[in-house]
Amino acid sequence: MNLKDLYINFFVSKGHKQIPSAPVVPENDPSVLFNTAGMQPLVPYLMGAHHPYGKRLCDYQKCVRTNDLDSVGDTTHHTFFEMLGNWSLGDYFKDESISWSFEFLTEVLHIPKEKLAVTVFKGNDLIPMDEVSYNKWLSLGIPKERIALTEEDNFWIAGETGPCGPDTEIFYYRSDKETPKNFDESDENWVEIWNNVFMEFVKSADGKISELPNKNVDTGMGVERTTAILEGVNDNYASSIWKDIIATISEISGLPYRGNEKSMRIIADHLRTAVFISADYAGIKPSNTDQGYILRRLIRRAIRHAKKLNIDINSDFESIIAKKILDQYQDYYQELKDNYDVVLEVLKNEKIKFNRTLEKGLKEFNKITSKNENIDATTAFHLYDTYGFPIELTVEMAAELGLEVDEKGFEAKFKEHQELSRTASAGKFKGGLAGNGEIETRYHTATHLLNAALKEVVSKDVHQKGSNITEERMRFDFSCDHKLTDEEKAKTEELVNKWIKEDLKVTVTEMPKSEAINSGAECMFIEKYPDIVTVYSIGDVSKELCGGPHVKSTKELGKFKIIKEEASSAGVRRIKAVLTNE
Ligand code: SER
Repeated sequence: MNLKDLYINFFVSKGHKQIPSAPVVPENDPSVLFNTAGMQPLVPYLMGAHHPYGKRLCDYQKCVRTNDLDSVGDTTHHTFFEMLGNWSLGDYFKDESISWSFEFLTEVLHIPKEKLAVTVFKGNDLIPMDEVSYNKWLSLGIPKERIALTEEDNFWIAGETGPCGPDTEIFYYRSDKETPKNFDESDENWVEIWNNVFMEFVKSADGKISELPNKNVDTGMGVERTTAILEGVNDNYASSIWKDIIATISEISGLPYRGNEKSMRIIADHLRTAVFISADYAGIKPSNTDQGYILRRLIRRAIRHAKKLNIDINSDFESIIAKKILDQYQDYYQELKDNYDVVLEVLKNEKIKFNRTLEKGLKEFNKITSKNENIDATTAFHLYDTYGFPIELTVEMAAELGLEVDEKGFEAKFKEHQELSRTASAGKFKGGLAGNGEIETRYHTATHLLNAALKEVVSKDVHQKGSNITEERMRFDFSCDHKLTDEEKAKTEELVNKWIKEDLKVTVTEMPKSEAINSGAECMFIEKYPDIVTVYSIGDVSKELCGGPHVKSTKELGKFKIIKEEASSAGVRRIKAVLTNE
């Protein structure tokens, strides 16, 4: 049995319900591009909302983290990974959480406790030291030399605001050498394998920390790293997770893994992430913004490294590798089955596109070098920025002509550019995780009304295809084969405002998924929901499967106004609308 199944079975045996993995592209949450942790989709429940599956949950969650994309190529970094998690929503706390983690590691995975060390929250001005966790670890036989007290590292929060709390991290000594008596964080053989967060606080935008209604537990364990540890390999990419994928790349290129690790890891990692992003029901395509831009960079970087391995870029190499990945994961993730061909299409089209700029870039390069002069930083950056030419390629090609490139100057420009995009993406996290502010909540309820109004005014075949909410506006994508007429727009707006004025009550009920669907509740992606679902109704005008949160009654919404109606993609229209207090 693999790690994922062992984990789920164990926590189910401890009274947990398995919940499905949320999509990699979060819905109704403009504050982040991707799900970066197992807890992320659970934020409303950690904040106190009732979860239809109860108080003990577990899952494996798809996560994408791109902050250290450039580090991929070494033995440990991945842009996509699966995170195992178990949660207590106001049920068990530190004692059981630590006991079960210890039991799972030592009795199910048979990791000797002599290979383990932990860190515990040291305490600060606001929150005292976590003595309960410290004593629990001692009682389980972890010696005090292996229990480190730290402050910063042992307080967990995703981004700037949201649910948070002290945590205890579990480390494993990954080396053939004898495990040292003392835990030493600077010794990189100590690798973190599990993080148990005792989420009892919430941090607001003004930096204030207040108590949550519940004392929750949120734990996270990375599948890739733990699998490598269990298989006794010091390179994550040498574990069974990557074996077939790396072997395929090796076969296509005719080169061994040893000696070509970096490029092979990058191809494997980036294509796997690209597969999951493009398979997501959100329908992300390579572009120059947001998720689409990440997808583009991943695919292009993979292609460049394929070129480095002398793989024929015009062959269908990317399809062969992607199929291995799809086959490996499709029994766990329905969207890979549903969007199998979509994924292959996306990869192929982006490859064709990149090949085109590659050709233009080559022409530009020839023009530049025809003067037989060294390449300055601005030109090197132009080749990178406009034609996607990595600096290594420019340097290599220049060297063949006996020319040099101002690499240092390029690096400076590159950093400057990176800073800019980092600041831009950091802004994405500012609003906190779930965008659960009062304004976003109002917009969220407004999307349900708009959905219902469009069905009445335009066609009963209108269905939601996506939505995005910021504090300033809502965006709503829906299936529709024509541009809305002015009359349709006006009528839709009028109807939403009429419902708002009627002050309809918003109510929530839980029911089996099949019952919800049979009762005509609206739902975007049926596969994605657990067997028991929450259904939000607004008076009797709207009924949708949804995780919330919503306002209590519609008069809280103010006035609804459509500001734009445009095409989004084939057969999909997009409305941008605002709520005002008029
Ligand atoms: N949220 C914590 C983490 O991401 C534990 O799941 O590490």
